[in-house]
Amino acid sequence: MATPLRQFYAFFLLFIFGKGLCQPCDVSSIMVNQTAIGDAVHGLQEYQVIITNKCICTQTDVEFQCTGFDSVEHVDPSIFRGDGEYCIIDHAQPIWFGSSINFTYASKAQIRFVPASSQINCS
Ligand SMILES: *[C@@H]1O[C@H](CO)[C@@H](O)[C@H](O)[C@H]1NC(C)=O
Ligand SMILES: *[C@@H]1O[C@H](CO)[C@@H](O)[C@H](O)[C@H]1NC(C)=O
Repeated sequence: MATPLRQFYAFFLLFIFGKGLCQPCDVSSIMVNQTAIGDAVHGLQEYQVIITNKCICTQTDVEFQCTGFDSVEHVDPSIFRGDGEYCIIDHAQPIWFGSSINFTYASKAQIRFVPASSQINCS
């Protein structure tokens, strides 16, 4: 009677642990911190955005919902680019555990960057 139950738990633990090993986190471990900074660009407020990866695994191709994103300040497209709907961190900019990338933009209003998807690389 006890054996099948034990087997069940063994499989259950293997499932949880195995899954945890290959993908311990997801795009929700991307933190966006943004602050209005002193400068005005073409009369509009400039914002600095710092995007940090709190996941132990590297994340690439991080995509955000960024409704209204339309910067009057040039944002280097080899770092970050987007239209008024979706934005992406360039593929060549992996964000390692605990590291961040940053950029500045200037806009009529502060844009919300909502992490939507990413590639997780745990190797
Ligand atoms: C965001 O950045 C500001 C200014 O650098 C800092 O004071 C604040 O602690 C940061 N907040 C988070 C949640 O990292
Ligand atoms: C922004 O990124 C640049 C280039 O990686 C780096 O030199 C700089 O220290 C970063 N600034 C902040 C505030 O994180």
